[in-house]
Amino acid sequence: MRSILVLNSKGGTGKTTLATNLAAYYALLEYNVALVDYDVQKSALDWLDTRPEDCAYIHGVDGTRPGTRIPRNMDYVFMDAPAASHGDTLVRLLRKAQTCIIPVVPSPIDLNAAVRFLDRLVRLGRVLNRKVRVGTVANRVRENSAGHEELQRFLRSVRLPDRRRLPFVAALRSTQSYVHAAEQGLSIWELPPSRVYHDLELWEPLIRWLNSKRSRPE
Ligand SMILES: Nc1ncnc2c1ncn2[C@@H]1O[C@H](COP(=O)(O)OP(=O)(O)OP(=O)(O)O)[C@@H](O)[C@H]1O
Ligand SMILES: [Mg+2]
Repeated sequence: MRSILVLNSKGGTGKTTLATNLAAYYALLEYNVALVDYDVQKSALDWLDTRPEDCAYIHGVDGTRPGTRIPRNMDYVFMDAPAASHGDTLVRLLRKAQTCIIPVVPSPIDLNAAVRFLDRLVRLGRVLNRKVRVGTVANRVRENSAGHEELQRFLRSVRLPDRRRLPFVAALRSTQSYVHAAEQGLSIWELPPSRVYHDLELWEPLIRWLNSKRSRPE
């Protein structure tokens, strides 16, 4: 079972967008996929509720309820973390994951928050000893904008305390396609291909990373 956590202590960076779209991507490939919502706002489960019945099936799990179990036959488990995850909550969530994706959006406030969050994250035992592999994703990017370039520079420069680089995996564009898809319980893979052609290409490095050994614990 592959377990992938989408995390950032900052709100509104695209955690739910990444978790729901990735869940749908693997469900469309006919894997057994669970989407675990650890957020009391339940945005991921709301998305699943609006998902049309004839779409690729994703098993929803309310992670905020104590004792909820993930069925054993799942191939992929995507976990949507709430904003403001830190301290013990953060450690508990990381313990459940092989891979952790951190979406960051290009704004000065978000960048400062990301600097602090990543600095804390890379010092955690599980990250240091590679029990969980962490990668960053720039989200809501406006290509060729100064903010995006600054974010890319920062994300490329993040290192673990032992000087290993933290992989910067993908940059996803800012587009209403994510909003339109989310409103209908869909992923961008389920929108007309002509509308999302370029966006789907931008997901490729993230999918490649998730499918490779580089995103798995040793
Ligand atoms: N690449 C994008 N382009 C345009 N809109 C986006 C993009 N990614 C996310 N959004 C939109 O931004 C909003 C916030 O995204 P999302 O809910 O995924 O963030 P979040 O990190 O889960 O937020 P929270 O911390 O509140 O849980 C949503 O309306 C979503 O549709
Ligand atoms: Mg969310």
